Amino acid sequence: MPRATIRSLHQKTRYRRASIRSLLFTVGPNRLSGRRISRRHLSREVLVREVEVSSPLWPEAFDGLRIGHVSDFHLGELLPLERAVDIIRLLAEQKPDLVACTGDLVDLHHDQAAPLLEALAATGAPLGSFLVLGNHDELHCARTVSEMAADAGVILLRNEEVEIGRNGQRLVVAGIDWAWSSQACARHVNRTCRHVVHLLLSHNPKAFRRAALLGIPLTLAGHTHGGQVALPNRPNTNLSLTHRRSAGLFRRGHSRLYVTTGVGGWFPLRVNCPPEVVILRVRHLPRPAGGKKQTVPGVAGRDAG
Ligand SMILES: [Fe+2]
Repeated sequence: MPRATIRSLHQKTRYRRASIRSLLFTVGPNRLSGRRISRRHLSREVLVREVEVSSPLWPEAFDGLRIGHVSDFHLGELLPLERAVDIIRLLAEQKPDLVACTGDLVDLHHDQAAPLLEALAATGAPLGSFLVLGNHDELHCARTVSEMAADAGVILLRNEEVEIGRNGQRLVVAGIDWAWSSQACARHVNRTCRHVVHLLLSHNPKAFRRAALLGIPLTLAGHTHGGQVALPNRPNTNLSLTHRRSAGLFRRGHSRLYVTTGVGGWFPLRVNCPPEVVILRVRHLPRPAGGKKQTVPGVAGRDAG
């Protein structure tokens, strides 16, 4: 059987499975409760979280850059378009220099993705609005979502990188497609980050393992929803059991990872895990005196900074 036919069959199976999951855990319980679940979900305030991160690998010309990070809308039954646009407005009010959305714009269908992408493009962030796709964005048709992003003016990165120049220095932003495992994420990172990259966007936080080895100063991710049920004041102790890094800020060497709890979800419950938009202020730290340049395993002579 031709490979394209097999891929199409897999895609249909994934979509069918996701539709059943949506019926059992999202749409079904919500409708049976007279939409009480989605009303409670919508009554929750979205937190604006400010986080400062610093690394000597971050370019000096971009010291103090403010990144607006948002993720996991899961547009659909539990999060209607109006709420999603309000959340983007809340993010835009913080006046970030750059907006980064780390995927799962939609829960299942992409029917209403276009106006959401238009709102994302219209935040007024001077360096632009960037996007990577999540696993849910691939359920209906990743190509259509990609075309919608391009039409709206959102910079979608599918295993690609772009450069932004300032004062003779450059900031390289890369984004990778969805992958399940650390190994599969690493393959995307290797393919995409062939030169120096400063900011990596990945739906799956598991990309951080390879990103840290490559000396990428900042990785932003979502996907986990912070486990949705966490212990009080211990956001990383939660029900996202397959992820060691599932909520908040993580460090490895000079590399940093922020995993946002996101704004939506497909399961209608959050405990000690409020929805959030994040403003990251990224600082360049001077390299410690006598500090060595990081070199990347498998990439000869590469300066990670
Ligand atoms: Fe998600």
